[in-house]
Amino acid sequence: MTTPDPALTKALQQVREVGYVLSHDWPHRGITARELGLNEGASSVRLPDDVQLHDLNYLQNSLPDQLSVQLLDYIDSTNSELIRRHTKSGGADHLILTEYQSAGRGRRGKVWLGDYGRNIAMTMGIEFPLTLNALGGLSSVVGLALLQALELEGVDSQLKWPNDVWVKEQKLAGILVELVPTKTGTLAVVGIGVNVDLTNAQASKIDQSVTSLRRLGASISRDDLVVAVCTSLLKNFDAYSRDGFAPFLEAFDSAHCLQDQAAILVLGGESQEGIVRGVDITGGLRIEQNGVTRVVTSGEVSLRPAATEEPQ
Ligand code: BTN
Repeated sequence: MTTPDPALTKALQQVREVGYVLSHDWPHRGITARELGLNEGASSVRLPDDVQLHDLNYLQNSLPDQLSVQLLDYIDSTNSELIRRHTKSGGADHLILTEYQSAGRGRRGKVWLGDYGRNIAMTMGIEFPLTLNALGGLSSVVGLALLQALELEGVDSQLKWPNDVWVKEQKLAGILVELVPTKTGTLAVVGIGVNVDLTNAQASKIDQSVTSLRRLGASISRDDLVVAVCTSLLKNFDAYSRDGFAPFLEAFDSAHCLQDQAAILVLGGESQEGIVRGVDITGGLRIEQNGVTRVVTSGEVSLRPAATEEPQ
């Protein structure tokens, strides 16, 4: 979906403004009200009482001036939208947020699911005056920024290399960083999805163990978390632009849920066991096998604890 359906856009705008739309104004084709988790009454479609939509004014006033902010009621994927925008008018220093993604993208070609108005789906575009291969470890730097923002809210989470955010062996958030070469360097398209209030209906469609901030008892609003995450990202990007991944090595190793533990690497369909021995300066994972340590890169492998059976 690159062209939003005008009828759905109009219906959702009305839901945003007055909390409901008459059923006969809901489009007959495309995404259903039920798919979005809206309440369908006899004659109207309503926003559930416990859904608090993003507030663009609040976000614009709270976020650093450096960022231009765009809020969409729905889109296929905020990463795809930022890349499309970049080809037209530039994507640097821009933040896209949406209430719902109809085709959210995860790593390794997976889909990323979420409910309308209940989770965070955001993409920040940041340009680095560096070539693509000089950006090693960037996705882990994003993971650390997310962890730092969550920690301020009392949520104790861990990273699984390169950048999955886990709490007690359940996935809380995911990160998809895509790199686009530009005339002067590289645009990093930094996509972040956080399960804030994932419904059981969505959770049951996800092929791995997941959790959400509400299930963990955290009550922070989505807007405040977006502000905390963006602030933390911009701070980390400053340090990364100056000094690369080196200042983050220690923080990553102590946040890594598999540090010094046995893990299974799935490399081109083949599984191998090794001990995780931290990350290196390029952001690669150091794995010890039979007394020898080698470095693997995130494009090559997926990683899971040695005790689990299913790839995560
Ligand atoms: C993963 O863990 O597989 C990465 C998930 C990344 C999801 C986010 S949601 C916002 C942004 N837009 C996308 O299409 N994906 C990322």
